[in-house]
Amino acid sequence: MENITHERLLIIDFGSQVTQLIARRLRELNVYCEIHPYQNVTDTFLRGFAPKAVILSGGPDSVTREGSPRAPQSVFDMGIPVLGICYGQQTMMEQLGGKVVSGEGTAEFGRAYVTPTGKLSLLDGWFAEDKEQVWMSHGDHVSEIAPGFAVYGTSPNAPYAVTADVARNFYAVQFHPEVHHTPNGSKLYENFVRLAGFCGDWTMGAYREQAIAAIKEQVGSAHVICALSGGVDSSVAAALLHEAIGDQLTCVFVDHGLLRLNEAEEVVGMFRDHMNLKVIHADESDLFLGELEGQSDPETKRKIIGRLFIDVFQKYADEIEDAAFLAQGTLYPDVIESVSFSGSPSVTIKSHHNVGGLPEKMGLKLVEPLRELFKDEVRALGVELGLPTSFIGRHPFPGPGLAIRCPGEITREKLEILRKADAVYIDQIRKHGLYDDIWQAFCAILPVRTVGVMGDGRTYDFACALRAVTSVDGMTADYYPFSHEFLGETATRIINEVPGINRVTYDITSKPPGTIEWE
Ligand code: XMP
Repeated sequence: MENITHERLLIIDFGSQVTQLIARRLRELNVYCEIHPYQNVTDTFLRGFAPKAVILSGGPDSVTREGSPRAPQSVFDMGIPVLGICYGQQTMMEQLGGKVVSGEGTAEFGRAYVTPTGKLSLLDGWFAEDKEQVWMSHGDHVSEIAPGFAVYGTSPNAPYAVTADVARNFYAVQFHPEVHHTPNGSKLYENFVRLAGFCGDWTMGAYREQAIAAIKEQVGSAHVICALSGGVDSSVAAALLHEAIGDQLTCVFVDHGLLRLNEAEEVVGMFRDHMNLKVIHADESDLFLGELEGQSDPETKRKIIGRLFIDVFQKYADEIEDAAFLAQGTLYPDVIESVSFSGSPSVTIKSHHNVGGLPEKMGLKLVEPLRELFKDEVRALGVELGLPTSFIGRHPFPGPGLAIRCPGEITREKLEILRKADAVYIDQIRKHGLYDDIWQAFCAILPVRTVGVMGDGRTYDFACALRAVTSVDGMTADYYPFSHEFLGETATRIINEVPGINRVTYDITSKPPGTIEWE
């Protein structure tokens, strides 16, 4: 956002898998930070960004390799605090006159313990006992610290686990304070931002005001259209835009007939009737279900839905006069440029659907008011904007909806059964107080009928699979360990309350090797 007024911290990324976690820890401390790949951090960039402090991330390369990444030297000449982590620590030492070695005895992976060797403000309140657990993941280590530095903590394989040049406010740690396995790691970030003088001005209340001003400035008197899905991101984006520009916003809710029980009514009801947003309820279920008839291949189904979604959205958007902007609920993790070492494209597992490509085709500009936020910040902003917490805390729901929870051919009959079974399952989860412990839960109707016996009669009905996973970002997931009592009770309720299902299974596949959805 152009008119940023809050204090800023810059994270220079050297390609660590966990760089985003550094940003998460800092945002939790109400400190605004951005991640930028080391290649992009030029002197001009640094002057423009004007960070109050810099963190150098970890990374997979070796400082001892010729041509390996370095921090811009000017970072050390700006008179601001710098914290180097793992690779960041090593390049900092090397660039400031110390030495890094690779080879036998320099590596350390996994849990380690750091013992203090001196008193340092960065470590205030950190050592609960005489040593502290940390997570190490390094092949090389510092063999000689740079002039001006002193040692404040050591571990068995990292003699310089914590070092600092207090006069210059430079700090360097060999371990990763941002990961879960450094249980007290947040304390170091808290101390670092305190030492750097941050006042903690990054709050959702402050962001709301600033974002509204920025939207007004960007949009002026033009009209904005927004594809409202009922998911958290598009809902919060719509609520924020509405607060900024009122009737200049029109939302299009594309109902593809693949939504959950009462979902369309709930979403449209909330936004149109309670929040007074202009919402077009595009009921195009006949179109979608018609084109999906007879299709059983997962990718074909996804492609049909993606294509129709864009056609339908465009049809309704074309009717909105003076539309100049398309709103998107893009989040910060989607815009962080990653440091690429391999350069090789990854394999497509599933083609996700979105409205990508549409803005250029329709001559629309983008307005993305959530571009700076992580998912939990979006939720906090939603609450700040008055959206009900039950709505904000809803599990993610995929764009293709129930189509990918109905493996094989989709029929209206199967969708009806699936909706009912899913509603009973979610009701069970809520009643047992488990909803917020689970990242995503849903029911899938399987393309198989099984024989059962109910009363004195034979049944020949569908089987369904229950899915519930814990996850942080959907990239990896574990199945949720329900009790047998819960599973038994849920199976009984589904079979009793949902005609058409006579067998219930629980999916205990993790991701990988499975995916969360069935298609
Ligand atoms: P998978 O099944 O790939 O799902 O493990 C990971 C997460 O992504 C969601 N998902 C989608 N979300 N459009 C979306 O907006 C899609 O096409 C799509 N496919 C999967 C899925 O629900 C899970 O949260």
